[in-house]
This record gives sequence, C-alpha cells and structure tokens, in this order.
Amino acid sequence: MNRFYIWTIGCQMNKADSERLASNLENIGYRQVERAEEADTIVLNSCSVRQSAEDKVINKLSNLKALKRKRPDVTLALTGCMVNSNLEGLKERYPHVDFFLKPQKLDDLLAYAEEQTSQDEPEDTPVQVQSPTAYVPIIHGCNNFCSFCIVPYRRGREKSRPMTEIIAEIESLSDRGVKEVTLLGQNVDSYGNDLSDRPDLSDLLQELNQIDGLARIRFLTSHPKDMSQKLIDTIASLDKVCEHISLPAQSGDNEILKAMRRGYTIEQYCELISRIRYAIPDVALSNDIIVGFPNESSDQFQRTFDFLEEYKFDTVHVAVYSPRPGTIASRKMEDNIPSTEKQDRLRKIEELQERISIDKTSRLVGQTVEVLVEGRKGNKWQSRTRSDKLVFFSHDESCLGKLLQVKIDHAGPWSLQGTPVTSDNLCTK
Ligand code: SAM
Ligand code: SF4
Ligand code: F3S
Repeated sequence: MNRFYIWTIGCQMNKADSERLASNLENIGYRQVERAEEADTIVLNSCSVRQSAEDKVINKLSNLKALKRKRPDVTLALTGCMVNSNLEGLKERYPHVDFFLKPQKLDDLLAYAEEQTSQDEPEDTPVQVQSPTAYVPIIHGCNNFCSFCIVPYRRGREKSRPMTEIIAEIESLSDRGVKEVTLLGQNVDSYGNDLSDRPDLSDLLQELNQIDGLARIRFLTSHPKDMSQKLIDTIASLDKVCEHISLPAQSGDNEILKAMRRGYTIEQYCELISRIRYAIPDVALSNDIIVGFPNESSDQFQRTFDFLEEYKFDTVHVAVYSPRPGTIASRKMEDNIPSTEKQDRLRKIEELQERISIDKTSRLVGQTVEVLVEGRKGNKWQSRTRSDKLVFFSHDESCLGKLLQVKIDHAGPWSLQGTPVTSDNLCTK
C-alpha cells in the first residue's frame, strides 16, 4: 500500500492545507506514516514568513537528497509559501523534487497519487481516530500588503469561500464528531467583502452557532483596522463562540506602525481593546509583535514594551524582523538593527510576557473550568479552555472529544494542570 508523510511548518493555514491533503490521500487509499523513510510519497509544506522558517525547509530538503538517491521511486513534493512564481529557479535549486505546488494547488499531486494506487493491491487501512477539533479556511490570501510581509505575494489576493460551502463543511465535520472549529484567514474580518451578497464574519458566526453537536467556534486572525463593533457584539452574544481573539498589533509605536503600513495608530488599537474588554469581560487576547524593524530606535522599542506591560495580553508571539525579498520594507528600508540588539529586544519581551502569563494563569488555580479534550501527551490528557489555555490532567477512561469540568490545581506560564470534577458531566456550552 502507498504510504505518505507530510512535514508542515508555518501558520494554521498551512496546517489546515496539510490536514486536507492528508484526508484526500487517505480517501484514495493512502496511509499516513510518521517518518519520511517509511513513505513512498513525501510532502514538505513550507513557510516563507521569516528566513529562519525557510532555512528549516532548505535543511529538510537537503536531508532528503540521500533518501531520494537511495530510493529514486519515492515521490517528493514541495508546497506552501516557498513555492513562488519562479518555478524554473526552484527546479534548478532542488532537482531532486518531483512536484512544486503552490499553496492549495495540490491537484497534480493528487492525480498522480491516484494513478499510483490503481497499480497497487488494496490493504486494510487502520481506522483513523477522528480529532475533535478542525481548522476551516474561510478566506484565502490577503489584500493588506503590510510592508514587512511576504504572504500576499505567495497566497494572492483575498478570496472568500461562499457561506453555504463553509456551513455544509462544518455540518459534515460535526456529524463526524468534530466539536470545535477554528475559522481561518489572514484577515478574517474582511470575510465576505468579495462575495456578491457581502455577508460578513458576524453573519457566518450566527449561522454556525446553530449547528447541532458543534460546541465551540474560534477564528483567527483579526486585523485591528477591520474589526467592527458588530463583530465584538456578536462574539459577546453567541454561546459557542469562544472568548478568545487574536489581534496582532505588531508594534506599540506610531511611526513604526506607519512604516509597517498597518493602517491604525496605537491609540486606535488600545481603544479597540478597551471596547472588546468592556463587551466581553473574560476575553483572552493574543498579540503578534515584530522587534528590530528597520530604524526602530530604543525609545520606539520601549513604547512597544510599555504598551505590552500596560495592556497585559494572554499570549504574545514575538519575532525579530526578517527582510523578505520583494516586500516593500526589504526594497525601501535598510535592515539596520544589529542582530544582537534584535535578540535582546526579543528576550526582553519574552521575559515580560512570561511574568504576565504566569500572573494570569495563576488566577485560575482553584477554579473549575470547561475544557475540550484534544488528545494525549505522554501519560496525560491534553485539553483546552474556551480562552485557549492548555490544561493537562490524568484519567483512566477515554476522554477524547469530551467537554469536561476540570478543577485547576497548578499553573505554569504556558499550561495548567488539573483534576476532572466529573468525567460524565458533558455540556455543550
Ligand atoms: N495576518 C496576520 C496579521 O495581520 O498580523 C499575521 C500573518 S503573518 C503570517 C504571522 C506573523 O508573522 C505576523 O503577525 C508577524 O508578526 C510575523 N511576521 C510576518 N512577516 C515577518 C517578517 N518579515 N519578519 C518577522 N516577522 C514577521
Ligand atoms: Fe501579512 Fe499584513 Fe496580510 Fe497579515 S494583514 S497576512 S501581516 S500583509
Ligand atoms: Fe508562512 Fe505562508 Fe503561513 S508564509 S506563516 S505558511 S501564510
């Protein structure tokens, strides 16, 4: 039987694409394996967001050269955001790769994979354990062209999926036992702008909230310039929509925000946060920050630091600026902050956030929270609160896919430990 291995790096959009590819391959009789050495078809799903991500892909590609020499019949495909329009250049650099496929354009690989299976004897496929959570892309691409970002060049312009198609997909996922969906897009707040009847994310959430069996709905990423009061009120009013919003600020300084072409000031961002916290008091907010953007002075960095210290986010993903060829910043601005200074700023924000996170999670100790059990990690069950906090606990019975009440016993900055209050106390709220 044909076996496939998928290696994925990058954002949830890439993870969703890989999940989809895996399910398409399984549908035509392929079986997923854990190691490239055991596979007949190897897919690398790549990311270009920073040079460090590309370096990992390049490293993986060169490690696979020996395998391909030993077993030339293995099919090697590269997809994801590293596959740009210069296919000839890629073929020259990586001659051992059989397929270069732009993100979501996997049809050639699937057609080829289908041809291979018809020549093969079918084998019993082990029953896959259905995950209780799923990613569902609702809008592809991005129209924003933030000056530092490669995504619009690799994923193209915004294209929303019709509401009927998304609803049908989530109904079918729910029928197969999925309890939680995360709606994905680089800017979910512009969902529907390109559709003829112009629905918006609030309209979509209203419809999805009515799906029986579905317990939780999440979405990411929101853009501060596009998040409407209507959406905030919708999140506050719908029982299945989790109190968790990913709202990247990128910087706390107005000049840097302008150079980044983000389309808002830090005052507008903070006013938005205040409105969100007023409407949804228990909301968990996560943020993305770039340090060491061209010309970022120590005062400008300090403003970002002070903003994070004052507004206290639940999670902050901090990255050092990495010039991306072809973007406005890499063409027009010099990458002039020394690497050691960038790393120092990164470390300062990471240390600050660790203190803030532990302070926030510690407040949950002694409380009972609802969790959805996602799987096993070592000898513990791994679960998540509505506010996206990881909770680990021990239990002898199978808990996968259950919504449980868990009393929190111990808090660390990135996860919590607890004890289930009752194992059969299933609830859907
Ligand atoms: N669409 C989201 C937004 O508007 O913030 C995020 C998309 S991007 C795929 C994910 C994160 O990568 C960004 O929030 C940003 O912090 C980081 N990022 C993007 N380009 C970067 C660059 N050139 N250097 C460093 N970090 C970068
Ligand atoms: Fe990149 Fe900006 Fe689009 Fe986010 S909104 S994907 S940072 S261009
Ligand atoms: Fe990377 Fe592409 Fe996502 S560049 S972060 S995989 S959209």
